[in-house]
Amino acid sequence: MNRIEELIHEHLATGPLSVSEAMALALYHPELGYYRRSEGPWGFEGKDYYTAMDIGSLLGETLAVRLEEVWVRLERPAVFTVLEPGAGRGWLGRDLLAAVSGAFAKALVYVHRDDNPAARTAAEAALAPYLAEGRARFVSEQEPLLAFAGAVLSNELFDALPAQPWRWNGTQWLRELLTSAGPDWVAGDPGEAGAWFLAQAEGGLHPGDGAVWCEAMAPLVRELARALTAGLFLTVDYGDNGCRLVAKGAELRRYRAHSVDGAWWEDLGHCDLTADVDFTRLAHLLEIEGFHEAAHHSLSRWIRSHAPLSEWEAQWQELPAKDRVDRMENLLQLTLPGMMGERFRVLEAWKPLPL
Ligand SMILES: C[S@@+](CC[C@H](N)C(=O)[O-])C[C@H]1O[C@@H](n2cnc3c(N)ncnc32)[C@H](O)[C@@H]1O
Repeated sequence: MNRIEELIHEHLATGPLSVSEAMALALYHPELGYYRRSEGPWGFEGKDYYTAMDIGSLLGETLAVRLEEVWVRLERPAVFTVLEPGAGRGWLGRDLLAAVSGAFAKALVYVHRDDNPAARTAAEAALAPYLAEGRARFVSEQEPLLAFAGAVLSNELFDALPAQPWRWNGTQWLRELLTSAGPDWVAGDPGEAGAWFLAQAEGGLHPGDGAVWCEAMAPLVRELARALTAGLFLTVDYGDNGCRLVAKGAELRRYRAHSVDGAWWEDLGHCDLTADVDFTRLAHLLEIEGFHEAAHHSLSRWIRSHAPLSEWEAQWQELPAKDRVDRMENLLQLTLPGMMGERFRVLEAWKPLPL
């Protein structure tokens, strides 16, 4: 038994833990949590999972194009801040900063926010030249955010927040718990989550319907949304519309060594635990905070809408063969059906300049 499992066992001796409590301990226990370790989980061999940045810089380059449009729409402010909560290794910021040029590059300041120690160490290396030039900086999750104009950007942040599965059995709601004998479903009152799931259930609830409820989503969205005085909130993650998630049924996943399964209670603290993001709710929370034009699409569609692909493909023809192939592979991964570009979605919402 590992140390975090011992700790969870001590908790279970006094009674069950909700899944979201177990997930919070497993991922974020200050010393033992999966996202509080000195070594990061990202990459290929010997790691647990890879992200869009492990396969190339195309996402960051497309963001550079998209965020320059936002800067223009904001009437070219002298300082355009991009805050990235859950920034991990800072690779998205690095790719973004490497891709911008001209007056937009002078205005852009990238802010990394992630208290994960492994993330911080890796980001210090990835962002080194930009930190030295004052074009990138770090803020801690504990620091209150200062108001800024620009963008809030995140990749795979919301799927990593503690989440609670709920399931409708035909007559009542069941909540998933961790007991000393293993996982169990027990009747409970879902409160706000129940009202939300019911509103998402087209044609009413059926046995087996349910979804994961992320309690931490609303306060985090509120904090980020209020700091952004004007600009774009952009989130990349996996998930779906609320109605499809409820019809699919509640589900938490664990990733370890590039395999994925539903055995979230095994090897706690040593696997990534993750849940689909309810994009309908994310958009709804942003609308409450005064954002307009909230919409989400597949990453594939978002890339094809914003990247000047024919121009880039012409430039790639000039590259050495290996680089050309890498660029094409990166593009295919992010756009072909069945690959990353279809599994991930991008949500954008716009906060206009104050009148
Ligand atoms: C799945 S990882 C994604 C990291 C990175 N964005 C990437 O794509 O490689 C989620 C990260 O979110 C961080 N995180 C979780 N809650 C956070 C919060 N409230 N503010 C900032 N970072 C947070 C975790 O520490 C972890 O590093």
